[in-house]
Amino acid sequence: MARLAVNVDHVATVREARGIQEPDPVLAAGIAELAGADGIICHLREDRRHIKDRDLTLLRQVVRTRLNMEMAAVDEMVEIAREVCPDLVTLVPEKREELTTEGGLDVKSNPRHYEEVVGRLREKGIEVSFFLDPDPDQIETAHRIGAQIVEIHTGHYSEAASEMEFGERFERIVNAAKRTADLGLAVSAGHGLNYTNVKRFKALPQVEEYSIGHSIVSRAVLVGLEQAVKDMIALVKDL
Ligand code: PXP
Repeated sequence: MARLAVNVDHVATVREARGIQEPDPVLAAGIAELAGADGIICHLREDRRHIKDRDLTLLRQVVRTRLNMEMAAVDEMVEIAREVCPDLVTLVPEKREELTTEGGLDVKSNPRHYEEVVGRLREKGIEVSFFLDPDPDQIETAHRIGAQIVEIHTGHYSEAASEMEFGERFERIVNAAKRTADLGLAVSAGHGLNYTNVKRFKALPQVEEYSIGHSIVSRAVLVGLEQAVKDMIALVKDL
């Protein structure tokens, strides 16, 4: 039975569209937990385009499940994480001009830097996850430098244009998840997952946790957040 962690970034996106105080991602996190979510995720971006420092601080105080902070592996964020102490940090690549996280992290490009970041976070008891494309070389490097979790990037799978492409891209995720689990790391998956494309993951019991935001917040606008979270939990618990 897999777990669902709910990303509340896009509640903050709606707030920022007006530049006022609502809707509040912290309240959303509470509702998601009451609806049964196993964890709450937020991405404090360097440009603070949605989640703000205040949100992260309050989420740390309010979240009763597990708080996962997504962040770039840069000094400023490492210092904030060491101060706030989320249960888990997910290291993601970040480009200023991107609409959302576009690809997995390229750990292979600079393993020594990432190893140092892992060390600084582990010192504070924070678990470290790497957001990676389904690429065995990246996964093996992350394992070697101390990752505890690999979150497999499902964005390319979710954007497949045909059944054949869905099948091929899913196959890469299957192989990556198996390799990650064989290395003894926990496997998560996320990005672009929705109420339809998540169902294929029934074939992949290695995935322990799903990280889902946009599709849940989109449904919440129409049916309410509690209902939207419950609908996704019903799917994820069946995987
Ligand atoms: N996982 C990671 C690492 C992400 O950066 C995001 C997007 O913030 C998600 C999961 C959730 O993606 P989505 O909002 O498409 O569900």
